[in-house]
Amino acid sequence: MRRKIVAGNWKMNTVLPEGEMLVKQLEFLTKDLDNGVELIIAPPFTHLVTVGKYLSENGVKVSLSAQNCADQDKGAYTGEVSAAMLRNAGCKYVILGHSERREYYGENSESLLRKINLVLNEGMQPIFCVGERLEERESNSHFEVVSAQIKEVLYKLRGVELANVIIAYEPVWAIGTGKTASSDQAEEMHAYIRRVVADKFPDYAENMPILYGGSCKPSNAQEIFSKENVDGGLIGGASLVAQDFVAIAKSF
Ligand code: 13P
Repeated sequence: MRRKIVAGNWKMNTVLPEGEMLVKQLEFLTKDLDNGVELIIAPPFTHLVTVGKYLSENGVKVSLSAQNCADQDKGAYTGEVSAAMLRNAGCKYVILGHSERREYYGENSESLLRKINLVLNEGMQPIFCVGERLEERESNSHFEVVSAQIKEVLYKLRGVELANVIIAYEPVWAIGTGKTASSDQAEEMHAYIRRVVADKFPDYAENMPILYGGSCKPSNAQEIFSKENVDGGLIGGASLVAQDFVAIAKSF
């Protein structure tokens, strides 16, 4: 049985008091959540220590993730936040390679490989994002694009390391657009991703969680999560509304 995961990527939203309020709402709404889904939230860096402390001191069944980390372990890198700092703040997960970071901050496979190794070395689990742009889907190169994103980074890991990696498939054209991939499109790509991983890591692909991201909401989550190779979701906008986020988690 693969893990079922619903992760909320808050992106650059909420100031700390708003984030704390959201976490308290999640605490209340998740009290009766017992369908085996693991809930993760990824608030901004400035919230992590406070939120992490609140979650652990109050026994809230929600794990903490960061949205990014530095590609160096420490030193003179002004403005960066290291994997060790995130671990110390209470993070179990780090989202890496989100399309917004690839697109606006020039992240590439080379720096992502460094980041993934740093995150794994700290004993945290990377949520590694892949996904094609609209023009790539329209020109039918989406499989090629996603396969290259995986091969350039994950193929350079060892199998035992891969066992701690979660993949999130987020078609760029579905992020924040209200346009979701159909459940069949998601399943087709998720099954493909699992095959690409299996080509190199036959012993690990079957258990790897693959999450879907892109305009996932309470009204479409159940249909998407019903697919064999979809193991949960990476949720943007809807994760900022506690009721919607928990409703998505209850869609399994
Ligand atoms: P939306 O759910 O807002 O489309 O964002 C998805 C996403 O980018 C999660 O990382």
